[in-house]
Amino acid sequence: MDNGIKIDTLIVNASELVTLDTYGGRVPFHGKKMSEIGIIENGAVAISGEEIAAYGGTHDLLSELEIAGDTRITDAKNRTVTPGLIDPHTHPIFAGTRELEFAMRIRGKSYMEIAAAGGGILNTAKKTREMTLEDMTSVSAPFLDRMLSHGTTTIEAKSGYGLSTEAELTMLLAIRYLNQIKRIDLIPTFLGAHEFPAEYRGGGEDDYIDLIIEKMLPIVAERKLARFCDVFCEVGVFDIEQTRKICLAAKELGLKIKLHADEIEPMGGAELGVELGATSVDHIVEISPGGIAAVAGSSTIATLLPGTSLFLGKGKFAPARDLIDSGAIVALATDFNPGSSPTTNLPMIMSLGCVAMKMTPDEVLAATTLNAAFAVSQGEKVGSITVGKQADIVVWDVPNHNLIPYFYGESLSSIVIKKGKIAWRKD
Ligand code: NIG
Ligand code: FE
Repeated sequence: MDNGIKIDTLIVNASELVTLDTYGGRVPFHGKKMSEIGIIENGAVAISGEEIAAYGGTHDLLSELEIAGDTRITDAKNRTVTPGLIDPHTHPIFAGTRELEFAMRIRGKSYMEIAAAGGGILNTAKKTREMTLEDMTSVSAPFLDRMLSHGTTTIEAKSGYGLSTEAELTMLLAIRYLNQIKRIDLIPTFLGAHEFPAEYRGGGEDDYIDLIIEKMLPIVAERKLARFCDVFCEVGVFDIEQTRKICLAAKELGLKIKLHADEIEPMGGAELGVELGATSVDHIVEISPGGIAAVAGSSTIATLLPGTSLFLGKGKFAPARDLIDSGAIVALATDFNPGSSPTTNLPMIMSLGCVAMKMTPDEVLAATTLNAAFAVSQGEKVGSITVGKQADIVVWDVPNHNLIPYFYGESLSSIVIKKGKIAWRKD
């Protein structure tokens, strides 16, 4: 292939190169297609600048490519190569930790009981409101480094612990700043409707919704501080009508929609997401059969968060099998946050997807790469080893992709490449 493209990096001899490029990488995998992940044995990938320039079998690629003297060659013998993982639901900016609530839950209190007593999101919001932009970035940065070390190269990042105009904007500015200074990409989501702040409870709820619609959303849209607007649509938090009102206002301003839906009680959040043309409906542990059918017949992605089910000790997980078998597009995420899922480890979530939700290792890989890319509207750019896409790639210390979720709780990434450059490596 002498087409003048300079190859900067060449990864060769991968025992498995998993491309997720079966359908050209520009459409997500629906339902059973999630198993068609595209495996090349003894595979190779060529990177030019920030992009994937070519891929194929090692012998073919080596005979086709012009290798320059300064091409960096990585031998991936006995290792697996995949696209960088994408975590499409995280809350990475917050003050403090909530281990006391963790202990209370172990002793029998529920997540909602703790929230009603002033714990939960409001507990974190009280302290996060006091943080400066500098505090937020310095507290969050180490978590982002941990995500990168687990093979995650793009995340969605939500505000939602400010719950005032100023504090929500500071959170979104911190996300923007972190996106500039860290190797990992952050896709920002405005979550002003995460909870009613203390000063609006007991009668002022409508005023808070007005504040979101009339003040916060216009500034967020005008300053392009977020790509998505999300709402915690749940019994005792934002009801269906309040959620619809906020989302319609956000759509009017050009924001895309995500919902925390049907997590604790079934209330038609998934159906509302489909009606609104949401990019994703997330959690959906309690989704109804009608909700499953609605999501399966739509392009709204079901983003499942099994780490949250595990950590809240509920013993109930989202119906991943029913969703996939009905034809839905399923993605997986950590839901990284201090209350319900304090983990940065997306491969661990893949293990939970397999063990607790009966997804196959092929499906959990599709759910954390290409489908997750579409869940953050980045499917044109990342999520698969596709010629022309950004070179976000992970080399794993295992000879096949089934072993990534198999060794649960382990960190098996050995090299993480972001935009063509090594962003993290073991040792
Ligand atoms: O996705 N469910 C609402 N929001 C988060 C939890 C936030 C918190 O407890 O601080 C979630 O689980
Ligand atoms: Fe969440």
